Order: sequence, then C-alpha cells, then structure tokens
Amino acid sequence: MPAVDLGEFAFERGGRLSNLTVAYETYGEYDGDNAVLVCHALTGSQRVRAPDGDPGQGEGWWQDVVGPGNPIDTDEYFVVCANVPGSCYGTDGPPTEAPDGDPWGPDFPAVTVGDWTRSQRRLLHHLGVDGLHAVVGGSVGGMNALDWARRYPDFVDRVAAVATAARLDPQLLAIDAVKRRSILSDPNYGDGHYYDRARPDRGLALARQLGHVTYLSKDSLGRKFGRRTTDRDPESPFPEREEGFPARAVESYLDYQAGRFVDRFDANSYLWLVRAMDHFDVAAGYASDADALADFDGEALVLSFTGDWHFTPEQSDRLAAAFREAGATTTHRVVDSDHGHDAFLVEPASVGPPLRDLLGDGPRDPDRDRPPIHRRTNSTQPKTTHCNQ
Ligand code: COA
Repeated sequence: MPAVDLGEFAFERGGRLSNLTVAYETYGEYDGDNAVLVCHALTGSQRVRAPDGDPGQGEGWWQDVVGPGNPIDTDEYFVVCANVPGSCYGTDGPPTEAPDGDPWGPDFPAVTVGDWTRSQRRLLHHLGVDGLHAVVGGSVGGMNALDWARRYPDFVDRVAAVATAARLDPQLLAIDAVKRRSILSDPNYGDGHYYDRARPDRGLALARQLGHVTYLSKDSLGRKFGRRTTDRDPESPFPEREEGFPARAVESYLDYQAGRFVDRFDANSYLWLVRAMDHFDVAAGYASDADALADFDGEALVLSFTGDWHFTPEQSDRLAAAFREAGATTTHRVVDSDHGHDAFLVEPASVGPPLRDLLGDGPRDPDRDRPPIHRRTNSTQPKTTHCNQ
C-alpha cells in the first residue's frame, strides 16, 4: 500500500504534525487531464477496489464502480483515493506514532473535512496532478467532495455528491452524540491512551451498531430479518444473553457486524472522524450554501436514494438547488431504493450510470437545468459489493 510523507501539516482547528503521512491507492494512468479523486466514507479506506494483481485483502468498497470498463473506468481515468487524516488505514491518526514513540491517542490534533481536502490537494501535487476532471464522494466523502468545490473551485471540473448533504441534521447530530458517549463511557477508554491495554471494544461496537442502524431502512431490515428469532451466536464484544428471551436475527446480525468492525477500526479514530463530520457545514463562513459554491462553475451531480434517512433526497434537493443558484450545471438523480443509506455501497448498478454520464461526454440529463429536478432512476437488482467500510 503506497504512503507518502507530505511534510509539515497544520490542522484547521489547531495543532500540527512535522510530517504528515498519507496512505493512498491509484488506479490507471495519468495523462494530464484525466484525474478523478474518490473520497471515502466515514470508516472507509483508500481501497476503493482491489489493486490489480493484489486481491489478497478482498475487494474494495466500490469494486464494481471503479475499475477497467466500470463506470469510473480506470482504462480512461487516473483514479486516486486517499485515507483521510484521523483515520486508521495508514494515514496519520490517533493510533499512529507520535514523536515520543507512543501512539498519539487523544493527543492527535482534531481533524476537519477541510483538513482531508487540504491533505488530498498536497497528495495530488506530489503525484503531479494539477487539476481534477472530477471529485466523487459518498456520505461524508460527499461532504469532502463539496468542500473541494467550495475550497478549490478552479481545480475541479465536475463534482459528484452521492448520498450526502450540506450538513448533518439535528437528528443525526443527536445520534452521533450518543455514539461518542458510548465510546467515552466505556471503562476501557479511560484517558484514551488504551493502546497497551484492553481496548474500548464494547463502546466502539455500540457506537457502530447505532451507526449501522442509520445505514439501513425499515424496508431493508424487514426484508433481511423481519421479526425472526435465531440461534446464531456470533462472536462479538457482547457475549451476554438474556435468559428466556430468544435473540432476534437483526440483533445477532448487528452483533456479528460490530464484532467485525472492532477488529478493523480504532475507537479514537471513530471519535475523531465523527467529530469532523458533525462539524462540517458547507455554508460555514458564507452567507448560504449557494454563496459557498458560487465560484464553482463546473458540473455537479447530486445522487440520492429514496430509502436513505441518514441523508435524505430532500437534503439532496436543497443541495442541488444551491449548486444551481451558484450557476453550476446541475443534475439531481433520485434512485428508488429500499436499501437505506448503504444503497450507495450495495447498488453499483444504480450508482454507476449517472457517474459514467458525469465523467464522460455521454448523454446528460435532459432536465438538468430545470429546477427542481427529480429524475427517478429505477434500481435494478442490486449487486453486492464487498465493502471494507
Ligand atoms: N446473524 C449473524 N450474522 C448474520 C446474520 C444474522 N442473523 N444475518 C446475516 N449475517 C451475516 C452474513 O452471514 C454475512 O456474513 P459474511 O459477510 O461474513 O459472509 C453478513 O452478515 C452479510 O452482511 P450484510 O450487511 O447483509 O451484507 P450486504 O451485502 O447487504 O452489505 C455491507 C454489505 C458491507 C455494505 C454491510 O455489511 C455493511 O458493513 N454496512 C455498513 C457500511 C457502512 O459503513 N456504511 C456507512 C458508510 S457512511
């Protein structure tokens, strides 16, 4: 996995690293004007697809969207995906080594979405990329893409904001507050320097379970599990069983998924990234969302999913309206889907075509300049990607 030392880096909310290491993947060849930056979601990684010849760690989180012949076609585009500062997949964050030789833990500087964008800009400079054909991101990765349009409007030609919003709504802020409380109140969290002792797995697992519920919809939970009970007893940080009360399938599913999650993610990183997402507001420092995006005169695709209550189609509609008001050529596509927020990960057949249209010179949405736009794309039978998010 490539990683680069980008030198001294000052964080927006204070603190600096004398050497920021950023881990990243690239796919395809750069020809001077074909670079596409893909921004990962909260607990995602730079492994947007398995690098050619290295399928060892499984498929990437957009394996069927990015790749040779895929909608983000790596035969045509040079695709870059970088792990964001604060995370735990090779870029500096709380688990990486501080100058004193120990993990930073809670002493790692607070990170913002803007820090992610600035580190990506530095990485692109290192790679010799002096402009982006497109920046594409899903969920908080979509906020990262919006920050690109706001911060570096001349550097980017096209923006795809997938399953995202200009800011979290109060309901999601509330849920995130409980997630953080869950980690911070785990007795193993203590002062946050837990790396040489038992980790706050239960707090992190609970936080993830809460998050995971927000990624699904009533329909998808009904379809997958209904009210069924189960004898499955997966390994997880929650071995306790309630005598006399059979476990529901949905419960053992969440336990199973949380068990897998704590094996791959760090509790401090989770806190740091959730704080960055909560703090993001595209209009911060501007009069409005449209004002923030006013200097972006490229093309914008906003993609939303009917079953997504984490980032709703209505929020996307408002975002698309802001892009239009700012003067960008804008398309808002609403995909009929019962998958909830995770649709952007598990429905490559729905996500891919609008992205292919945005990147290429192919057919464009005929209604794109007529607000308000709700062009509905019927989802076909979804293909499952194996996501390392
Ligand atoms: N008890 C225990 N395990 C169960 C279960 C039950 N009742 N029902 C299903 N499972 C297991 C299956 O055996 C399967 O295990 P495997 O992956 O080891 O083969 C797994 O659960 C299937 O998971 P599921 O979520 O149904 O798969 P999916 O294809 O619909 O979704 C992911 C794949 C990766 C998107 C999803 O699992 C996930 O992690 N979602 C969260 C992603 C995320 O972070 N999204 C937010 C971005 S901001």
